[in-house]
Amino acid sequence: MENRKILLSGIQPSGNLAIANYIGAIKNWLSLQEQYYCIYMVVDLHSLTVRQDPKELKKRCFEFIGQYLACGLDPEKNIIFLQSQVSAHSELAWILNCFTYMGELSRMTQFKEKSTRHGENINAGLFTYPVLMAADILLYQTDLVPVGEDQKQHLEITRDIAIRFNNLYGETFRVPEPFIPEVGARIMSLQDPTKKMSKSDEDPKSYIALLDNPDVIKSKIKRAVTDTGKEIIYNENRPGIANLMTIYSCLTDKSFSKIEEEYQGKGYAEFKAHLGEIIVETLRPVQKKYEVLMKNKDTLYNILKDGAEKASKMAQKTLSKVQKKIGIIQI
Ligand code: AMP
Ligand code: TRP
Repeated sequence: MENRKILLSGIQPSGNLAIANYIGAIKNWLSLQEQYYCIYMVVDLHSLTVRQDPKELKKRCFEFIGQYLACGLDPEKNIIFLQSQVSAHSELAWILNCFTYMGELSRMTQFKEKSTRHGENINAGLFTYPVLMAADILLYQTDLVPVGEDQKQHLEITRDIAIRFNNLYGETFRVPEPFIPEVGARIMSLQDPTKKMSKSDEDPKSYIALLDNPDVIKSKIKRAVTDTGKEIIYNENRPGIANLMTIYSCLTDKSFSKIEEEYQGKGYAEFKAHLGEIIVETLRPVQKKYEVLMKNKDTLYNILKDGAEKASKMAQKTLSKVQKKIGIIQI
């Protein structure tokens, strides 16, 4: 571990893990697990910023961890855990709150956007959300954080907080860098290809969930909104077919020109039918593994326990260092 760089990321347990999360995050994570020391979380505390049904939340946390594992994340090679199981996250978040300015937090695009969307519940957690994220990252002396475009601002504030603290108290935190995977495809909604595919979209037809059954998958692809036109040609001005081709390309590693060649003279219907099959076959082993895992709750529970223990050990080191520096008594 010592000479490998530390890479950390997390996903909120909200909505249903979708093919966009697989292509944009989990698939990349799989290829990183050999090269880096990887820490992957389900960030359940972050999801409390929006009102949750307690039973649903609990169920979804297990399901998300189950899906991480079913996709092939290896708990022997990585640390896989639930954020809430390591209390150091909340403890460091409080301390970092006292080193973060209202002005900085007010500038966060996600806060502005979420407080407009959830006007009835603009809670303080929504405002300090990036500080908890900073704690998630800084606790593990993380080098690299794979994030999408929308999280870059949160990584920037994490760096600012780390630098500020280091300047005041001496070298304490490693200052993390964003990690942009080489192939960073943005997958769009199947119902509105100008909008990002989101696991929390109210319309389940807009995304393929990792746990959708084969018939549902095929039907969603068949009914995916496409542009007027017939040819399977990649063109950004035809976002519907471009998006389906992107999904095709990410799952088969075929280039757009190769796909165009294969579908020359063929129509949307045939292309969509094949794409449906490809997604079904990609997800079949994942779903099979998931089913076995979920039947064996003890194993899942043990993986979570083991992950939390390993994470706690690392996190506690940083937390103690911080506490000592700011004058909190260690007993
Ligand atoms: P979210 O669903 O917004 O919680 O996203 C979790 C992670 O999944 C993000 O950080 C991205 O890496 C990935 N992701 C989510 N939506 C997309 C998308 N439409 N296209 C590509 N990657 C995505
Ligand atoms: N805020 C991130 C998102 O919504 C999730 C997240 C929380 C995260 N803590 C993190 C991502 C730490 C990377 C590292 O996508």
